[in-house]
Amino acid sequence: MIPLLRPTLPKLASLQGKLKDVFRTGMLTNAKYVREFENRCAEYLGVKHAIAVANGTSALMLALTCLDMKGEVILPSFTYSSDGHVLLWCGVKPKFADIDPATLNLDPESIERSITSRTQAIMPTHVFGNPCEIDAIGKIARKHNVKVIYDGAHAFGSVYHGKSVLGFGDVSIVSLTPTKTLTTGEGGLLIVNDEKLARKMKLGRYNGDSENRNEEFLGITARMDELSAILGIEGLKIFPKMQRRRLHLVELYRRELHGLPGITFQKISSGSISAYKDLVILVDKEKFGISRDELIGELRKKNIETKAYFYPIHKKKVYERYQNLRLPNTELVWEKIMNLPLYSHMPEQYAKKVCSVIQSIHQKHI
Ligand SMILES: Cc1ncc(COP(=O)(O)O)c(C=O)c1O
Repeated sequence: MIPLLRPTLPKLASLQGKLKDVFRTGMLTNAKYVREFENRCAEYLGVKHAIAVANGTSALMLALTCLDMKGEVILPSFTYSSDGHVLLWCGVKPKFADIDPATLNLDPESIERSITSRTQAIMPTHVFGNPCEIDAIGKIARKHNVKVIYDGAHAFGSVYHGKSVLGFGDVSIVSLTPTKTLTTGEGGLLIVNDEKLARKMKLGRYNGDSENRNEEFLGITARMDELSAILGIEGLKIFPKMQRRRLHLVELYRRELHGLPGITFQKISSGSISAYKDLVILVDKEKFGISRDELIGELRKKNIETKAYFYPIHKKKVYERYQNLRLPNTELVWEKIMNLPLYSHMPEQYAKKVCSVIQSIHQKHI
């Protein structure tokens, strides 16, 4: 079986000293390894603050709360359900905009069309790690005086014009679950350069409590624990090497499948480097010979695991109220997209095998 993904973990031996220390002191939470992880992440990313939290969803929740979001927030439907859910949890109206079918990221023109007098923020996702059109989005945000919260759940390692993409906007969030380029098991980061906001977010993850038990705002318990932080510290040490491997595998896929009729890859703009949390292709049935779903089925028969992702938020049952919303590009992409096996330590021959099986399936069906 060639799996879709596996978490890339540091060597167990590299964790042992720190784990022993935690077991000796009993300091499981709220201690030095979380702080060390935060400092190392901030330094690696070239940002002022990387604030460790329980997961990407609570990072989003804290970003919205600490920026006092009300009214409407513009976001893609082609992203993870958390983005819609957190808005509803915070009493904010999600305003879904459409994507560019080549980059799979929010289309700035669609953002502009979605702005109303109630808009308070734009919340774009760097989909699969592909940096958004940051300059265009920044321009729209300044013109309409709204905040930008980047969902960088997939973007640890992504670069925009020479800098980590996570340093842009008012806040960025990261997810560190096992499917991500860097993992702490469960975990997330809030990335912020503003001191005041950083202070508020640090209190926010303690329920908003500044130790006098007299909270001034509604926070949420969303701390990262020390064991997760240890995994993050050691994971970060091997991250640059692992990320180079990942991008090498992506290049191999792109080279092998280049020019195959009916197969297109996500467009990465010049000046951007995607972290490639996922490698996706769009399958055009007319040109390739079979549909995306049929290709997923054929690959499964050959023991190759793939999936179709994202399921657009506005098409989900809990978002029934949006059932009449039309987002043509999002819907088109949803019919064609599929994720190919990719993880940083994946053997090169797996990528070669997947490509040769896809090529032979195309030959069989033309
Ligand atoms: C784009 C995106 N945003 C947010 C999240 C939420 O992160 P978490 O699962 O860490 O809460 C995810 C999770 O996969 C995601 O893919």
